[in-house]
Amino acid sequence: MTLSGSLTSPAPRTVGNLLADYRPGWSLPQDYYRSEALYRAEMDQFFLTEWHFAGLASEIAKAGDYMLFDLCGESAIIVRDAEGRIHAHANVCRHRGSRVCLEPRGSARRFTCPYHAWTYNLDGSLFSARLMDGIDHDKLGLKPVAVEEFCGLVFVSFAADPTSFDQMRRDMGPLLRPFGLDRLKVAARKSYPVAANWKLLVENYNECYHCAPAHPEFARTHPTHMDGDRMKPLNKAMVERAQALNIPTDYVDTVGEHCPPGSVDHTFSRHSLYDDVVTGSDDGKPVAPLLGNLAGYDSGAADVYIGFFNPFLIYNDHVVTYRFIPDGIDRSVQEIIWLVRDDAVEGRDYDLQRLTWLWDVTTVADKTIIEKNQLGVLSRYYEPGPLAGMEFYTRRFLDLYTSRMARAADLPA
Ligand code: FES
Ligand SMILES: [Fe+2]
Repeated sequence: MTLSGSLTSPAPRTVGNLLADYRPGWSLPQDYYRSEALYRAEMDQFFLTEWHFAGLASEIAKAGDYMLFDLCGESAIIVRDAEGRIHAHANVCRHRGSRVCLEPRGSARRFTCPYHAWTYNLDGSLFSARLMDGIDHDKLGLKPVAVEEFCGLVFVSFAADPTSFDQMRRDMGPLLRPFGLDRLKVAARKSYPVAANWKLLVENYNECYHCAPAHPEFARTHPTHMDGDRMKPLNKAMVERAQALNIPTDYVDTVGEHCPPGSVDHTFSRHSLYDDVVTGSDDGKPVAPLLGNLAGYDSGAADVYIGFFNPFLIYNDHVVTYRFIPDGIDRSVQEIIWLVRDDAVEGRDYDLQRLTWLWDVTTVADKTIIEKNQLGVLSRYYEPGPLAGMEFYTRRFLDLYTSRMARAADLPA
């Protein structure tokens, strides 16, 4: 051993080293779940730069209506201006940086910072700065945050140069039109804290290999063998019913490929429920009025992604959407939002308990599964294992995640 050799410390581990250890078709190596440096890189380079579903345009229907969108330390004020346009502003005062808006939602003529009372217009421009002359108002407006509205759904990205919605709008608009997503309201929101790294939540959501053993309630109404020949006759019957109802059917059994660089990720697939089941509920019977222009039930459910982190499960009478919210390297929050037609009245047209039962009980079970998964991946005995064919969406997530993280290859892990 040379003197210089004995004094040389090993090169610091980088995201690039970690990516080299990823074996496509296998679960992630352990360091992906325990490196604080990697977690920070994930947030900066990937999670916060993707598009996230923030709420419905109908939640801010009138001029001045606003809602906050908080994620991983960032905060955006999403507000409708006097001309009806939706803006998103960084919720960071241009004086000395305080949060400007503190209430999660409301209606305002202007936003006044609680610290020294700088005041901003709805479009983000600076209206007044108390006792200060000679500052350039034009340069001190709230910074813009990227926001897009699509089919009445509002999405936010904290990226400086977020991916475009154009291709997604062209592909997904016609497929989603029958479901009237622009005429929805929030029926319920619920948050489930999960003691696990955020990637385990996403990995779990994206596969139904675990559905048969882990979700007996779900398996009563949803076939859980979605990869095989056994689905084909069910889907064929669903297609015939769907065509009679003018629901587009040319996507059945397809899974979107990775979207081209520059396009927001999007996929649409529709699968059959069991023949005597029309929606996701305890007994398979309807739980809310039919969505949009639908004339009936085809016993189908659509799995839709608009952006990498925004799954929408569209039944004919309601929509369930998930949010994955990191809260540190080993803690996350799973949020579920249930959406129904905007003119549906609770107690008359839908019962909240019946509406939310299936995905509540399923998510409670998932929380347990995922927390056990977290314990295992941190064990000294853990090593990556092979994914099943039914885990193709999880494989897709891991491939996309590692490809996006390549941009952070030089950062420490
Ligand atoms: S930090 Fe907002 S007015 Fe001073
Ligand atoms: Fe699950």
